[in-house]
Amino acid sequence: MSASGGQRVVVKELGETPPDALEQHLALEPMARPSTLGPREVLVAVKSAAVGWVDLLMLSGQYQHVPKPPYTPGLEYAGEVAEVGAEVKGVSAGEAVLVDGFVAGPRSLGEYRGAGGFASWAVVPEEAVRRLPGKLSFDQAASLLGSYETAIHCLVTRGNLQAGETVLVHGASGATGLAAVHVAKLLGARVIATGRSDEKLAVVKAQGADVVLNTRAPEGHGGARRFRDEVKALTGGEGADVVYDGVGGDISVESLKCLKFGARFLIVGWAATPFVAKGKGGRGAPNANLLPTNLIMMKGLDVLGCPTIISTVVNPAIRAPRQKLLFDWVESGRLVPYVSHAFPLSEVKEALRAKWRGDVIGGAVLHP
Ligand SMILES: NC(=O)c1ccc[n+]([C@@H]2O[C@H](COP(=O)([O-])OP(=O)(O)OC[C@H]3O[C@@H](n4cnc5c(N)ncnc54)[C@H](OP(=O)(O)O)[C@@H]3O)[C@@H](O)[C@H]2O)c1
Repeated sequence: MSASGGQRVVVKELGETPPDALEQHLALEPMARPSTLGPREVLVAVKSAAVGWVDLLMLSGQYQHVPKPPYTPGLEYAGEVAEVGAEVKGVSAGEAVLVDGFVAGPRSLGEYRGAGGFASWAVVPEEAVRRLPGKLSFDQAASLLGSYETAIHCLVTRGNLQAGETVLVHGASGATGLAAVHVAKLLGARVIATGRSDEKLAVVKAQGADVVLNTRAPEGHGGARRFRDEVKALTGGEGADVVYDGVGGDISVESLKCLKFGARFLIVGWAATPFVAKGKGGRGAPNANLLPTNLIMMKGLDVLGCPTIISTVVNPAIRAPRQKLLFDWVESGRLVPYVSHAFPLSEVKEALRAKWRGDVIGGAVLHP
Protein backbone atom coordinates (compact mmCIF):
# COMPACT_ATOMS: atom_id res chain seq x y z
CA MET A 1 0.00 0.00 0.00
CA SER A 2 1.09 3.56 -0.65
CA ALA A 3 1.49 6.13 2.11
CA SER A 4 -2.05 7.34 1.35
CA GLY A 5 -3.39 3.80 1.58
CA GLY A 6 -4.96 3.53 -1.86
CA GLN A 7 -4.79 0.73 -4.41
CA ARG A 8 -5.96 0.14 -7.95
CA VAL A 9 -6.08 -2.74 -10.37
CA VAL A 10 -4.16 -2.26 -13.62
CA VAL A 11 -4.44 -4.42 -16.75
CA LYS A 12 -1.11 -4.07 -18.53
CA GLU A 13 -2.03 -5.83 -21.77
CA LEU A 14 -5.03 -7.67 -23.17
CA GLY A 15 -5.04 -11.46 -22.78
CA GLU A 16 -5.94 -14.27 -25.19
CA THR A 17 -8.93 -15.06 -22.97
CA PRO A 18 -10.28 -13.54 -19.73
CA PRO A 19 -8.63 -16.27 -17.54
CA ASP A 20 -5.30 -15.72 -19.34
CA ALA A 21 -5.57 -11.95 -18.85
CA LEU A 22 -6.44 -12.13 -15.17
CA GLU A 23 -3.64 -14.60 -14.36
CA GLN A 24 -0.93 -12.98 -16.54
CA HIS A 25 -1.59 -9.31 -17.07
CA LEU A 26 -3.53 -7.97 -14.11
CA ALA A 27 -1.84 -6.40 -11.07
CA LEU A 28 -2.76 -4.50 -7.94
CA GLU A 29 -0.75 -1.28 -7.55
CA PRO A 30 -0.51 1.44 -4.91
CA MET A 31 -2.58 4.51 -5.69
CA ALA A 32 -2.19 7.99 -4.25
CA ARG A 33 -5.33 9.99 -3.55
CA PRO A 34 -5.82 12.28 -6.58
CA SER A 35 -4.78 15.78 -5.50
CA THR A 36 -6.28 18.01 -8.18
CA LEU A 37 -9.87 18.26 -9.34
CA GLY A 38 -11.29 20.21 -12.26
CA PRO A 39 -14.11 22.67 -11.40
CA ARG A 40 -16.85 20.25 -12.52
CA GLU A 41 -15.24 17.06 -11.21
CA VAL A 42 -16.05 14.84 -8.25
CA LEU A 43 -13.61 12.64 -6.31
CA VAL A 44 -15.36 9.39 -5.37
CA ALA A 45 -13.96 7.09 -2.66
CA VAL A 46 -15.08 3.78 -4.17
CA LYS A 47 -16.84 1.48 -1.67
CA SER A 48 -18.16 -1.19 -3.99
CA ALA A 49 -17.45 -2.09 -7.63
CA ALA A 50 -19.41 -4.69 -9.59
CA VAL A 51 -17.50 -7.63 -11.07
CA GLY A 52 -19.39 -8.15 -14.31
CA TRP A 53 -19.26 -10.48 -17.26
CA VAL A 54 -18.38 -7.53 -19.48
CA ASP A 55 -15.45 -6.67 -17.15
CA LEU A 56 -14.16 -10.19 -17.85
CA LEU A 57 -14.60 -10.03 -21.63
CA MET A 58 -12.87 -6.64 -21.75
CA LEU A 59 -9.71 -8.12 -20.20
CA SER A 60 -9.05 -9.97 -23.47
CA GLY A 61 -10.62 -7.41 -25.82
CA GLN A 62 -13.49 -9.84 -26.56
CA TYR A 63 -16.20 -7.28 -25.84
CA GLN A 64 -17.41 -4.90 -28.56
CA HIS A 65 -15.78 -1.95 -26.75
CA VAL A 66 -12.02 -2.60 -26.54
CA PRO A 67 -10.08 -0.73 -23.81
CA LYS A 68 -6.54 0.48 -24.46
CA PRO A 69 -4.12 -0.89 -21.84
CA PRO A 70 -2.90 -0.02 -19.33
CA TYR A 71 -6.37 0.50 -17.90
CA THR A 72 -8.30 0.03 -14.65
CA PRO A 73 -11.38 -2.25 -14.97
CA GLY A 74 -14.65 -1.65 -13.16
CA LEU A 75 -17.59 -0.56 -15.30
CA GLU A 76 -19.99 0.15 -12.46
CA TYR A 77 -19.39 1.30 -8.93
CA ALA A 78 -20.70 3.22 -5.95
CA GLY A 79 -19.02 5.14 -3.17
CA GLU A 80 -18.80 8.25 -1.09
CA VAL A 81 -18.07 11.73 -2.43
CA ALA A 82 -14.65 12.62 -0.97
CA GLU A 83 -14.32 16.08 -2.52
CA VAL A 84 -15.96 18.23 -5.19
CA GLY A 85 -14.64 20.81 -7.70
CA ALA A 86 -15.38 24.51 -7.22
CA GLU A 87 -18.39 24.59 -9.60
CA VAL A 88 -20.10 21.34 -8.57
CA LYS A 89 -23.62 22.09 -7.32
CA GLY A 90 -25.48 18.77 -7.35
CA VAL A 91 -23.59 16.73 -4.72
CA SER A 92 -21.33 17.44 -1.77
CA ALA A 93 -18.66 15.67 0.24
CA GLY A 94 -19.91 12.76 2.32
CA GLU A 95 -22.86 11.86 0.08
CA ALA A 96 -23.35 8.30 -1.12
CA VAL A 97 -23.44 8.07 -4.92
CA LEU A 98 -23.37 5.60 -7.77
CA VAL A 99 -21.32 6.25 -10.90
CA ASP A 100 -22.87 5.92 -14.35
CA GLY A 101 -20.70 3.61 -16.45
CA PHE A 102 -22.04 5.28 -19.56
CA VAL A 103 -20.33 8.57 -18.61
CA ALA A 104 -17.16 7.41 -16.77
CA GLY A 105 -15.11 4.23 -16.58
CA PRO A 106 -13.79 1.76 -19.19
CA ARG A 107 -17.15 1.35 -21.00
CA SER A 108 -17.63 5.11 -21.51
CA LEU A 109 -16.69 6.87 -24.72
CA GLY A 110 -15.37 10.25 -23.57
CA GLU A 111 -12.34 11.47 -21.62
CA TYR A 112 -13.18 9.64 -18.34
CA ARG A 113 -12.48 6.11 -19.60
CA GLY A 114 -9.60 5.87 -17.13
CA ALA A 115 -11.95 6.14 -14.13
CA GLY A 116 -12.49 2.40 -13.54
CA GLY A 117 -14.04 1.25 -10.27
CA PHE A 118 -11.47 -1.41 -9.27
CA ALA A 119 -9.63 1.35 -7.37
CA SER A 120 -9.75 3.26 -4.11
CA TRP A 121 -10.65 6.52 -5.86
CA ALA A 122 -12.09 7.72 -9.13
CA VAL A 123 -12.27 11.24 -10.54
CA VAL A 124 -15.46 11.60 -12.56
CA PRO A 125 -17.48 14.47 -14.05
CA GLU A 126 -20.45 15.71 -12.02
CA GLU A 127 -22.92 14.31 -14.56
CA ALA A 128 -21.64 10.77 -13.88
CA VAL A 129 -22.77 10.70 -10.24
CA ARG A 130 -26.22 10.17 -8.84
CA ARG A 131 -27.28 9.91 -5.18
CA LEU A 132 -27.98 6.32 -4.10
CA PRO A 133 -31.66 5.70 -4.75
CA GLY A 134 -34.04 4.24 -2.17
CA LYS A 135 -32.41 2.29 0.62
CA LEU A 136 -29.82 0.59 -1.57
CA SER A 137 -26.47 -0.41 -0.07
CA PHE A 138 -23.26 0.40 -1.97
CA ASP A 139 -23.14 -3.24 -3.17
CA GLN A 140 -26.70 -3.11 -4.49
CA ALA A 141 -26.21 0.30 -6.12
CA ALA A 142 -23.05 -0.91 -7.90
CA SER A 143 -25.14 -3.76 -9.34
CA LEU A 144 -28.03 -1.67 -10.64
CA LEU A 145 -27.66 0.24 -13.89
CA GLY A 146 -26.04 -2.20 -16.34
CA SER A 147 -28.17 -5.21 -15.52
CA TYR A 148 -31.50 -3.49 -14.90
CA GLU A 149 -31.25 -1.04 -17.78
CA THR A 150 -30.52 -4.07 -19.97
CA ALA A 151 -33.50 -5.98 -18.62
CA ILE A 152 -35.81 -3.00 -19.16
CA HIS A 153 -34.44 -2.24 -22.61
CA CYS A 154 -34.93 -5.86 -23.68
CA LEU A 155 -38.25 -6.66 -22.02
CA VAL A 156 -39.99 -3.29 -22.27
CA THR A 157 -38.48 -1.21 -25.09
CA ARG A 158 -37.83 -4.14 -27.44
CA GLY A 159 -40.01 -6.95 -26.12
CA ASN A 160 -43.15 -4.98 -25.16
CA LEU A 161 -43.77 -7.58 -22.43
CA GLN A 162 -47.31 -7.38 -21.09
CA ALA A 163 -48.89 -8.36 -17.77
CA GLY A 164 -50.20 -11.91 -17.97
CA GLU A 165 -47.75 -13.00 -20.69
CA THR A 166 -45.27 -15.83 -20.11
CA VAL A 167 -41.57 -15.10 -20.53
CA LEU A 168 -38.83 -17.72 -20.65
CA VAL A 169 -35.67 -16.24 -19.07
CA HIS A 170 -32.40 -18.08 -19.82
CA GLY A 171 -29.28 -17.65 -17.66
CA ALA A 172 -31.65 -16.51 -14.93
CA SER A 173 -29.04 -16.81 -12.17
CA GLY A 174 -26.81 -14.32 -14.00
CA ALA A 175 -26.65 -10.57 -13.53
CA THR A 176 -28.91 -9.60 -16.43
CA GLY A 177 -30.93 -12.82 -16.12
CA LEU A 178 -31.92 -12.22 -12.49
CA ALA A 179 -32.60 -8.56 -13.33
CA ALA A 180 -34.93 -9.82 -16.09
CA VAL A 181 -36.74 -12.06 -13.58
CA HIS A 182 -37.26 -9.06 -11.25
CA VAL A 183 -38.36 -6.72 -14.05
CA ALA A 184 -40.72 -9.26 -15.65
CA LYS A 185 -42.43 -9.90 -12.30
CA LEU A 186 -42.80 -6.14 -11.70
CA LEU A 187 -44.47 -5.91 -15.13
CA GLY A 188 -46.95 -8.61 -14.09
CA ALA A 189 -45.63 -11.35 -16.37
CA ARG A 190 -45.25 -15.03 -15.53
CA VAL A 191 -41.61 -16.16 -15.47
CA ILE A 192 -40.19 -19.55 -16.42
CA ALA A 193 -36.51 -19.29 -15.48
CA THR A 194 -33.77 -21.63 -16.70
CA GLY A 195 -30.26 -22.52 -15.52
CA ARG A 196 -27.93 -25.46 -15.00
CA SER A 197 -27.71 -25.60 -11.21
CA ASP A 198 -30.50 -26.58 -8.79
CA GLU A 199 -28.82 -24.59 -5.99
CA LYS A 200 -28.71 -21.38 -8.02
CA LEU A 201 -32.22 -21.96 -9.37
CA ALA A 202 -33.54 -22.25 -5.81
CA VAL A 203 -32.35 -18.67 -5.24
CA VAL A 204 -33.86 -17.54 -8.55
CA LYS A 205 -37.19 -19.01 -7.42
CA ALA A 206 -36.92 -17.30 -4.05
CA GLN A 207 -36.26 -14.07 -5.96
CA GLY A 208 -39.60 -14.33 -7.74
CA ALA A 209 -39.51 -16.75 -10.69
CA ASP A 210 -42.79 -18.67 -10.96
CA VAL A 211 -41.20 -21.85 -12.32
CA VAL A 212 -37.56 -22.91 -12.65
CA LEU A 213 -36.23 -25.47 -15.13
CA ASN A 214 -32.79 -27.05 -14.96
CA THR A 215 -31.75 -27.33 -18.63
CA ARG A 216 -28.34 -28.95 -18.08
CA ALA A 217 -27.74 -31.68 -20.66
CA PRO A 218 -26.84 -35.22 -19.46
CA GLU A 219 -23.13 -35.74 -18.75
CA GLY A 220 -21.09 -35.86 -21.96
CA HIS A 221 -23.79 -34.31 -24.16
CA GLY A 222 -22.86 -30.59 -23.88
CA GLY A 223 -25.34 -27.78 -24.60
CA ALA A 224 -28.87 -27.82 -23.25
CA ARG A 225 -31.35 -30.69 -22.83
CA ARG A 226 -34.78 -30.79 -24.50
CA PHE A 227 -37.26 -28.74 -22.46
CA ARG A 228 -39.94 -27.79 -25.01
CA ASP A 229 -42.47 -30.29 -23.60
CA GLU A 230 -42.30 -28.78 -20.11
CA VAL A 231 -42.73 -25.24 -21.44
CA LYS A 232 -45.66 -26.35 -23.61
CA ALA A 233 -47.25 -28.11 -20.62
CA LEU A 234 -46.81 -24.99 -18.50
CA THR A 235 -48.48 -22.81 -21.12
CA GLY A 236 -51.57 -24.87 -21.92
CA GLY A 237 -49.89 -26.36 -25.00
CA GLU A 238 -49.35 -22.97 -26.66
CA GLY A 239 -45.76 -22.03 -25.79
CA ALA A 240 -44.25 -18.91 -24.22
CA ASP A 241 -44.93 -15.39 -25.49
CA VAL A 242 -41.37 -14.10 -25.11
CA VAL A 243 -37.88 -15.54 -24.62
CA TYR A 244 -35.08 -13.51 -22.98
CA ASP A 245 -31.91 -15.21 -24.22
CA GLY A 246 -28.65 -14.15 -22.60
CA VAL A 247 -27.09 -17.60 -23.11
CA GLY A 248 -27.05 -18.43 -26.85
CA GLY A 249 -25.86 -21.63 -28.55
CA ASP A 250 -28.01 -24.79 -28.22
CA ILE A 251 -30.50 -23.27 -25.81
CA SER A 252 -31.55 -20.71 -28.43
CA VAL A 253 -32.52 -23.39 -30.94
CA GLU A 254 -34.44 -25.41 -28.33
CA SER A 255 -36.22 -22.18 -27.31
CA LEU A 256 -37.56 -21.66 -30.82
CA LYS A 257 -39.47 -24.93 -30.32
CA CYS A 258 -41.27 -23.79 -27.19
CA LEU A 259 -42.61 -20.46 -28.35
CA LYS A 260 -46.15 -19.65 -29.37
CA PHE A 261 -46.94 -18.50 -32.92
CA GLY A 262 -45.99 -14.80 -33.30
CA ALA A 263 -43.83 -14.78 -30.12
CA ARG A 264 -40.89 -12.41 -29.56
CA PHE A 265 -37.35 -13.80 -29.29
CA LEU A 266 -35.06 -11.31 -27.52
CA ILE A 267 -31.36 -11.77 -28.30
CA VAL A 268 -29.64 -10.41 -25.17
CA GLY A 269 -26.23 -12.13 -25.18
CA TRP A 270 -24.29 -15.39 -25.47
CA ALA A 271 -22.86 -16.43 -22.10
CA ALA A 272 -22.51 -20.02 -23.39
CA THR A 273 -20.47 -19.00 -26.43
CA PRO A 274 -18.49 -15.97 -25.24
CA PHE A 275 -15.77 -16.03 -27.88
CA VAL A 276 -17.48 -14.27 -30.75
CA ALA A 277 -14.34 -12.13 -31.07
CA LYS A 278 -10.69 -13.25 -31.02
CA GLY A 279 -8.41 -12.69 -28.02
CA LYS A 280 -6.25 -9.58 -27.55
CA GLY A 281 -8.90 -7.42 -29.20
CA GLY A 282 -8.87 -9.34 -32.52
CA ARG A 283 -12.03 -9.54 -34.62
CA GLY A 284 -13.49 -12.18 -36.99
CA ALA A 285 -14.02 -15.26 -34.75
CA PRO A 286 -16.40 -17.94 -36.15
CA ASN A 287 -20.03 -17.24 -35.24
CA ALA A 288 -21.35 -19.79 -32.73
CA ASN A 289 -24.86 -18.35 -32.66
CA LEU A 290 -26.96 -19.29 -35.66
CA LEU A 291 -30.76 -19.57 -35.68
CA PRO A 292 -32.67 -21.72 -38.20
CA THR A 293 -34.73 -19.41 -40.39
CA ASN A 294 -37.33 -22.11 -41.16
CA LEU A 295 -38.52 -22.14 -37.53
CA ILE A 296 -38.54 -18.35 -37.36
CA MET A 297 -40.53 -18.17 -40.59
CA MET A 298 -43.08 -20.89 -39.87
CA LYS A 299 -43.79 -19.66 -36.34
CA GLY A 300 -44.04 -16.04 -37.46
CA LEU A 301 -41.52 -15.04 -34.78
CA ASP A 302 -40.16 -11.57 -34.16
CA VAL A 303 -36.42 -11.98 -33.51
CA LEU A 304 -35.17 -8.81 -31.86
CA GLY A 305 -31.54 -7.83 -31.27
CA CYS A 306 -31.28 -5.92 -27.99
CA PRO A 307 -27.91 -4.15 -27.60
CA THR A 308 -28.73 -1.72 -24.80
CA ILE A 309 -25.73 0.57 -25.01
CA ILE A 310 -25.49 0.70 -28.79
CA SER A 311 -29.23 1.41 -29.07
CA THR A 312 -28.84 4.20 -26.51
CA VAL A 313 -25.89 5.75 -28.34
CA VAL A 314 -27.94 5.69 -31.56
CA ASN A 315 -31.02 7.11 -29.82
CA PRO A 316 -30.21 8.71 -26.43
CA ALA A 317 -33.90 9.59 -25.92
CA ILE A 318 -34.71 5.98 -24.95
CA ARG A 319 -32.71 6.25 -21.71
CA ALA A 320 -34.77 8.76 -19.68
CA PRO A 321 -38.02 6.70 -19.62
CA ARG A 322 -36.02 3.54 -18.87
CA GLN A 323 -34.27 5.18 -15.93
CA LYS A 324 -37.50 6.70 -14.65
CA LEU A 325 -39.15 3.28 -14.51
CA LEU A 326 -36.07 1.78 -12.82
CA PHE A 327 -35.61 4.52 -10.21
CA ASP A 328 -39.34 4.61 -9.40
CA TRP A 329 -39.21 0.87 -8.60
CA VAL A 330 -36.06 1.30 -6.49
CA GLU A 331 -37.31 4.41 -4.63
CA SER A 332 -40.56 2.63 -3.77
CA GLY A 333 -38.64 -0.38 -2.45
CA ARG A 334 -40.10 -2.75 -5.05
CA LEU A 335 -36.78 -3.55 -6.70
CA VAL A 336 -33.61 -4.54 -4.83
CA PRO A 337 -30.65 -6.07 -6.73
CA TYR A 338 -29.39 -9.41 -5.39
CA VAL A 339 -25.64 -9.69 -4.69
CA SER A 340 -24.29 -13.13 -3.79
CA HIS A 341 -20.53 -12.48 -3.44
CA ALA A 342 -18.29 -9.71 -2.02
CA PHE A 343 -14.47 -9.70 -2.01
CA PRO A 344 -11.84 -7.23 -0.81
CA LEU A 345 -9.97 -5.53 -3.67
CA SER A 346 -6.87 -7.53 -2.74
CA GLU A 347 -8.80 -10.66 -3.88
CA VAL A 348 -9.62 -9.26 -7.31
CA LYS A 349 -8.28 -12.34 -9.10
CA GLU A 350 -10.40 -14.70 -7.02
CA ALA A 351 -13.44 -12.46 -7.60
CA LEU A 352 -12.93 -12.59 -11.38
CA ARG A 353 -12.34 -16.37 -11.26
CA ALA A 354 -15.57 -16.85 -9.30
CA LYS A 355 -17.49 -14.84 -11.89
CA TRP A 356 -15.88 -16.79 -14.75
CA ARG A 357 -16.66 -20.15 -13.09
CA GLY A 358 -20.30 -19.18 -12.69
CA ASP A 359 -20.35 -19.26 -8.87
CA VAL A 360 -22.13 -15.91 -8.67
CA ILE A 361 -25.90 -15.41 -8.48
CA GLY A 362 -27.00 -11.92 -9.56
CA GLY A 363 -24.13 -9.63 -8.64
CA ALA A 364 -20.59 -9.94 -7.27
CA VAL A 365 -18.67 -6.94 -5.94
CA LEU A 366 -15.21 -5.81 -4.87
CA HIS A 367 -14.60 -3.60 -1.83
CA PRO A 368 -11.62 -1.30 -2.40
N1 LIG B 1 -27.97 -6.90 -24.53
C1 LIG B 1 -27.26 -6.18 -23.73
O1 LIG B 1 -27.32 -4.95 -23.76
C2 LIG B 1 -26.40 -6.84 -22.70
C3 LIG B 1 -26.04 -6.16 -21.53
C4 LIG B 1 -25.27 -6.84 -20.58
C5 LIG B 1 -24.84 -8.15 -20.84
N2 LIG B 1 -25.19 -8.73 -22.01
C6 LIG B 1 -24.77 -10.11 -22.33
O2 LIG B 1 -25.71 -11.00 -21.76
C7 LIG B 1 -25.07 -12.24 -21.42
C8 LIG B 1 -25.33 -12.52 -19.94
O3 LIG B 1 -24.73 -11.48 -19.19
P1 LIG B 1 -24.71 -11.54 -17.61
O4 LIG B 1 -24.07 -10.29 -17.15
O5 LIG B 1 -26.05 -11.89 -17.10
O6 LIG B 1 -23.72 -12.77 -17.40
P2 LIG B 1 -23.56 -13.68 -16.10
O7 LIG B 1 -23.85 -12.89 -14.90
O8 LIG B 1 -22.25 -14.34 -16.23
O9 LIG B 1 -24.71 -14.77 -16.24
C9 LIG B 1 -24.81 -15.64 -17.33
C10 LIG B 1 -25.63 -16.86 -16.92
O10 LIG B 1 -25.71 -17.69 -18.06
C11 LIG B 1 -25.64 -19.04 -17.65
N3 LIG B 1 -24.63 -19.73 -18.48
C12 LIG B 1 -23.31 -19.49 -18.53
N4 LIG B 1 -22.70 -20.36 -19.36
C13 LIG B 1 -23.67 -21.17 -19.82
C14 LIG B 1 -23.67 -22.27 -20.70
N5 LIG B 1 -22.54 -22.73 -21.24
N6 LIG B 1 -24.85 -22.86 -20.96
C15 LIG B 1 -25.97 -22.43 -20.38
N7 LIG B 1 -26.03 -21.38 -19.52
C16 LIG B 1 -24.88 -20.77 -19.26
C17 LIG B 1 -25.20 -19.11 -16.20
O11 LIG B 1 -26.27 -19.62 -15.42
P3 LIG B 1 -26.27 -21.15 -14.93
O12 LIG B 1 -24.90 -21.44 -14.41
O13 LIG B 1 -27.32 -21.15 -13.87
O14 LIG B 1 -26.61 -21.96 -16.11
C18 LIG B 1 -24.95 -17.67 -15.82
O15 LIG B 1 -25.47 -17.34 -14.55
C19 LIG B 1 -23.59 -12.05 -21.75
O16 LIG B 1 -23.35 -12.59 -23.03
C20 LIG B 1 -23.42 -10.53 -21.79
O17 LIG B 1 -22.37 -10.14 -22.62
C21 LIG B 1 -25.96 -8.12 -22.93
